[in-house]
Amino acid sequence: MKTLGGVKGFHDIVPPESERFTALEHRLRDVLRSYNYDEIRVPVAERTELFARSLGETTDIVEKEMYTFDDRDGTSLTLRPEGTASVVRAAIDAGLAQRERVAKLYYMGPMFRRERPQKGRSRQFHQVGAELIGRDDPTADAETVTLFADCLAAAGVPSSRIVLNSLGDAECRPAYRAALAAYGETHRAELCENCRQRLTRNPLRLLDCKEEGCRRAMAGAPLVTDHLCPACRTHFDEVQALLRATGVAFEINPRLVRGLDYYVRTAFEAVASNLGAQNAVGGGGRYDGLVEALGGPPLAGIGFAVGVERLLLAADTAAPEARAEICVIPLSDAAAAPAFQLAHRLRAAGARCELEAAGRSVKSAMRRADKLGVHFALLIGDDELRERRATVRDMRQQRDHRCALALDTDGGAARALLASLAAAASGASDATKGATGV
Ligand code: HAM
Repeated sequence: MKTLGGVKGFHDIVPPESERFTALEHRLRDVLRSYNYDEIRVPVAERTELFARSLGETTDIVEKEMYTFDDRDGTSLTLRPEGTASVVRAAIDAGLAQRERVAKLYYMGPMFRRERPQKGRSRQFHQVGAELIGRDDPTADAETVTLFADCLAAAGVPSSRIVLNSLGDAECRPAYRAALAAYGETHRAELCENCRQRLTRNPLRLLDCKEEGCRRAMAGAPLVTDHLCPACRTHFDEVQALLRATGVAFEINPRLVRGLDYYVRTAFEAVASNLGAQNAVGGGGRYDGLVEALGGPPLAGIGFAVGVERLLLAADTAAPEARAEICVIPLSDAAAAPAFQLAHRLRAAGARCELEAAGRSVKSAMRRADKLGVHFALLIGDDELRERRATVRDMRQQRDHRCALALDTDGGAARALLASLAAAASGASDATKGATGV
């Protein structure tokens, strides 16, 4: 029968790719913890209104990319297209977003956007993100960008370029928005249909259009960095000074706008040179005002998210070695139960252990152990059962040892067996001979 196959744009992550995936998540987690962030896990579905209110009604995501459906009671739900809105909502609900208190939260997991799938872009993808709620000082921005850079380095893409901009705030952005719309209006005829609508709905997005005609038309557009109010200017200058002093490499791009409406002041993105069209490996920025807009206290916030799939594409690192170290092989039916117990004890003692089914010939069992790439095969046949000793074949050195079967009840013999295998692996001759008895 023909298989059903998965859903377009939703991918399985299978071994060995899943090992790379997990290894990257672990590395990022270590970096985030070094900055004293705590993990938060938020649900994949939220009320649709949460995203409409926070990301902006006129963003591409809210207008056409959300997976929205009615729950059975008629509530409109949406699969989260990003994490910030949910994290801010959860922080408010859990009382973590409070005055005089700073919340530092990181998250990882799947996000959903109904975009056209292509290399580096899928409909379910994974982000690792960090949100710092309750800080409005430039040091918080610089620290966030530094954390972002450290995450990229930990992912093995240290050469990705970090681009920085300030988008102004409620004080100066309205005038810039108007100036941009006025400029765009004078070039209306050259703009694509989408951008003509953006002229009134979301003029900042005019700077982000990929159409050649629009790019040409907007080449002479006014720049936000020329329209910043004194407070935004000072803030942005201080962020840059701090980053320079720390040696974090970045470029200023006054045309950088982000696809979400909650940003104010500092915004940033990182692009990798080897990814083609979908080259943004991560991005973020400040979102002062969002906590309040979602019903919390008037707290500032700043954060970012990186795309796990894109980082893996950009890093092109090999899968980490993820193999069983030991394969326990019962050579007869009578050996099946003792082999089962031995494997159980070895795992409890910390080994990654494979257990073979009973009844194979020695030859086929060894072929299998070879294929698994294990370091040691533990053979248990009738002779071994009689003598209460297993034959240990060191697959790398092609040598046999005999060692105790490690069937004691407290696992001590299994640990001793593992220790002697480790000694054998490190080259100590005949180390397994000394394994404790049972
Ligand atoms: P974003 O720029 O929309 O920001 O997404 C962050 C990253 O997620 C992107 O740079 C990209 O690597 C990855 N990504 C986005 N869409 C896709 C897709 N369809 N397929 C594969 N990867 C994708 C945010 O989501 C903000 N919440 C970041 C943030 C946190 N800002 C403040 N705090």
